[in-house]
Amino acid sequence: MRTKIHAIAGGIGFLTILIFWTSTVFSEIFGSPETIAVVKDAIAWGLLILIPSLAVTGASGMSLGISRGKGRTDALVLAKKKRMPIIAGNGLIVLIPCALFLAGKADAGVFDAAFFAVQGLELIAGGVNLALMAMNIRGGLIVAGRIPR
Ligand code: HEM
Repeated sequence: MRTKIHAIAGGIGFLTILIFWTSTVFSEIFGSPETIAVVKDAIAWGLLILIPSLAVTGASGMSLGISRGKGRTDALVLAKKKRMPIIAGNGLIVLIPCALFLAGKADAGVFDAAFFAVQGLELIAGGVNLALMAMNIRGGLIVAGRIPR
């Protein structure tokens, strides 16, 4: 049950960032300023999904990592554990402030140099988190015996 909650929360977190990332890129390449503002606003609200899902993933992961004794000093689990503070820190320190800043700017119709600088930073941090979370999903599926090592 705990493993299921962990995997579902991790999957939701990953998909949320993937949707944020792709909708940002597509709206900013092809969309009108109004579309961009709608997307940025939706992303700011989407934080209400992302933050709890990351918190549940991290907490359930730590508890699985501790309680499933023996095999869980496994290098794959240790690597997952090491990535988690980077994923969480990136979310709290970079993604959340960026999302709120960008939503405010887009809402005011201000697409200046600061908007694009922060947008670039958000896309990089989002990309880093996607990569780290993909590695954690892969490691998790291996440890759970669902895909070969
Ligand atoms: C964003 C971060 C993370 C994601 C996306 C993630 C994702 C996953 C996924 C998809 C599974 C496979 C579950 C299954 O198929 O049954 C899994 C298993 C597992 N994860 Fe994570 N995980 C994350 C963070 C962590 C952390 C921080 C730890 C702590 C060390 C951890 C420990 C584990 C363990 C021990 C399992 C194996 C559970 C078992 O079958 O006994 N995970 N994880």
